[in-house]
Amino acid sequence: MEDMEARAHRLDAEDPGHRDLFHVPPAEGGDYPETAYLAGNSLGLQPRAVRHELLEELDAWARLGVEGHLEADRPWLPYHELLREPAARLVGALPDETVVMNSLTVNLHLLMVSFYRPAGERTLIVVEDTAFPSDSYAVRSQAAFHGLDPDLTVVRTDDPLATIREHGDRIALVMLGGVNYLTGELMDIPAITAAGQAAGAIVGWDLAHAAGNVPLRLHEWGVDFAAWCSYKYLNSGPGAVAGAFVHERHTGADLPRFEGWWSTEPATRFEMAPVSRPPRSADAWQVSNPPILAMSPVRASLELFDKVGMTALRERSERLTAFLQSLLDPTGVAVVTPRDPARRGCQLSLRVGDAGGLSKTLRHRYGVIADSREPDILRLAPVPLYSTYHDCWRAAAAIAREEKA
Ligand SMILES: Cc1ncc(COP(=O)(O)O)c(C=O)c1O
Repeated sequence: MEDMEARAHRLDAEDPGHRDLFHVPPAEGGDYPETAYLAGNSLGLQPRAVRHELLEELDAWARLGVEGHLEADRPWLPYHELLREPAARLVGALPDETVVMNSLTVNLHLLMVSFYRPAGERTLIVVEDTAFPSDSYAVRSQAAFHGLDPDLTVVRTDDPLATIREHGDRIALVMLGGVNYLTGELMDIPAITAAGQAAGAIVGWDLAHAAGNVPLRLHEWGVDFAAWCSYKYLNSGPGAVAGAFVHERHTGADLPRFEGWWSTEPATRFEMAPVSRPPRSADAWQVSNPPILAMSPVRASLELFDKVGMTALRERSERLTAFLQSLLDPTGVAVVTPRDPARRGCQLSLRVGDAGGLSKTLRHRYGVIADSREPDILRLAPVPLYSTYHDCWRAAAAIAREEKA
């Protein structure tokens, strides 16, 4: 009978990804030259195209100085326009609903300035009980900013629909992770959005672990707002520039916003007028001029998503993750991520004794990069763009060995 490693090699031959488009770090230990990199849910690998693209902007800066704003091959002044459509396609949004800017938590704050409007009895913010700490701190500080007690205002739940049913008329904002960072669970974004809105709340999503991982249709689902980062599945580099979505029904609305010179219509930007004239688009939420050197890798990366397509990626992702699950099942290690492919992205989260210790051992003894989250979760994310079936086999074989030891 074919052994599992041979099977992994056969599957890689039959169902290859696009690993050759990425730099895969060399392994620090184990029997193979390359890392089995399963930490793309934390920091995606560098696309080979990025270096060249970034050097082009550095060259333009060297050659043109300030004139690069208008005369670079990709002029910097309207540079963020280049990212709008690919980002919109990725999250299922209209171009005018989408903007690439800032970092994720900054975007969540800028959006909450507009969309968290506590009034009367309607003050609560609902987050998941395993919300990422940055989101927790963000919503608590928003409550405090409005003079509310965060302990009484932020409701943490493991069942958002039940919480919406129970507290509906007191909820101002539901803000959840589309894919939970810890468990890898994919939330029912359309159902929760509809339920929250039916109860009179605004519903926003943190899509850090969803963008580039699962297909999204934010416009069609009627999501009020969303934000995501670009350094995980979007492979745009550490601290890469993030994305934001505002549904078109809100883009022209009279909402409070924090503004800067990038919030005004581009044609009015150099009028040097004291009052802004914001466009009827997500661009109105921009504040500062965009960091071109940081946006260049995002542009190069989004191009890959356009080339390969989210549908094809998702199909390969389901096959890879199912393969990893089938290898983990016989080890007896507890997988806390839902088994149903419709309720998860690519990540599998394992409950293990010493997750931090195990992830170090995997790296140094086997050349497998996974990551751990307190207190006992090991996260493995086979990323369909560059991970292989053989990476999955290496991770599962190493875990089986270590958990038995
Ligand atoms: C779910 C989630 N939200 C927010 C953040 C924080 O992102 P940033 O530091 O880019 O604001 C992260 C970072 O990993 C995350 O996983």
